[in-house]
Amino acid sequence: MDQEIKCAVIGTGYVGLVTGACLADLGYHVICLDRDEGKLESLRNGKVEIFEAELEPMIVRNMKNGSLSFSADIKSAVSDSFYIFITVDTPSDETGRADITNVEEAARRIAPGVNSYKIIVNKSTVPVGSTNRVMRIIEESEPEYPEFDVVSNPEFLREGTAVFDFMNPTRIVIGSDSEKAIMHMTELYRPINAPLLITDPISAEMIKYASNAFLATKISYINAIANLCEYIGADVREVSLGMGYDGRIGFEFLKPGPGFGGSCFPKDTRALLAIATDYGYNFDLLKGTLEVNRRQRERMVEKLERMLGKLEEVKIAALGLSFKANTSDVRESPAIEIVRMLRDRKANVSAYDPKAMDNARKQLEGIEFADNPYLAARDADALVILTEWDEFKWLDYPRIAELMKRPIILDTRNLLDPQVLRKEGFTYEGVGR
Ligand SMILES: NC(=O)c1ccc[n+]([C@@H]2O[C@H](COP(=O)([O-])OP(=O)(O)OC[C@H]3O[C@@H](n4cnc5c(N)ncnc54)[C@H](O)[C@@H]3O)[C@@H](O)[C@H]2O)c1
Repeated sequence: MDQEIKCAVIGTGYVGLVTGACLADLGYHVICLDRDEGKLESLRNGKVEIFEAELEPMIVRNMKNGSLSFSADIKSAVSDSFYIFITVDTPSDETGRADITNVEEAARRIAPGVNSYKIIVNKSTVPVGSTNRVMRIIEESEPEYPEFDVVSNPEFLREGTAVFDFMNPTRIVIGSDSEKAIMHMTELYRPINAPLLITDPISAEMIKYASNAFLATKISYINAIANLCEYIGADVREVSLGMGYDGRIGFEFLKPGPGFGGSCFPKDTRALLAIATDYGYNFDLLKGTLEVNRRQRERMVEKLERMLGKLEEVKIAALGLSFKANTSDVRESPAIEIVRMLRDRKANVSAYDPKAMDNARKQLEGIEFADNPYLAARDADALVILTEWDEFKWLDYPRIAELMKRPIILDTRNLLDPQVLRKEGFTYEGVGR
């Protein structure tokens, strides 16, 4: 690959870091930028704060061979690069709309560096029309060189398998009205074997929201089915298995649990609902998706209360804090929200997570953090599985039963085998079974 092709990636978070590392690994020369100097300094020292399979060695390897570097100087990185990626965060504002302040700020910082034709590639998840907004901001800043293109290129990676997903995407979406930009984007992604969907910027922006809100709806749907299964006495695992064989439905995203969380599904579903409202369309379906999700966390707490008789002054061992397994990310984690609800109901919570403890400590006060699952379980009145970490499957449950005051398990992820646990003396409940 041509070492001369240079990429600048603005926003060195989950998406930016993975994008930067993978592009470097594909042979491009990449400079990752952030306004957080502390983060850049730890990255320069090879310290990656997020837990993501394969990422750290990939970063270290590419830093060593000179393909990847970190800087805060956006202007000179932009001047030096041909492709400029925007991968900054676009959090929900108080109305549920996506706040694109960071994207706008990045556009303003890019403008002074545009000294030759460049392609600005927006990977952040943004409301429809944002590609044009970025273009206007740069134009209004009157860059040194007048010709540039802004392309929408939404990112679909999943935390936990982000590097694999970047390198093996289900599709690459390129939203642009410029033939020149489309040609260069096709060239950029040539080393990656994936279907290429070339469309206009607004449709590209919509594809991202429509996909995430659909997956969120699928989760709320199976959660609602699971809840109904509990009323009628069916086993949701059998039901979802039987549904999944239908190719039109598929097996994925049919696992009930405490509801969806993370940095994308809740935020993007709220944002799409807000877009619909702003354009005068009443998207009631998404209101239902969000409402089922909100209630699902409460249902888990109510279930535990039923199992225990009360929550006040009981000790609960909470296993799992990240929003799903294989990530240290706790943003909008259902586990964190459930632990907070338990704490607010005056339960004494002792929590453990294999990777998310540091992040959780920043968000949770008034609970105890245990160094391992057995310490969390000691003298507990109940144990609740909140994240589907594989290691929780293989714990020594007979030992846990001995350590606990009362052997009660609420498995919000249907991770464990009820029959085995009941044989070991546990009172066990899962979701929808
Ligand atoms: N996390 C995911 O799994 C995922 C997947 C697909 C798409 N997305 C989308 O990608 C975008 C980024 O998400 P993320 O999870 O990587 O966010 P993040 O919070 O992990 O990282 C964002 C980074 O951008 C930096 N930043 C913000 N504004 C900046 C500015 N003006 N100049 C320089 N740096 C700036 C922040 O300091 C931070 O390091 C969001 O729009 C998100 O919705 C995320």
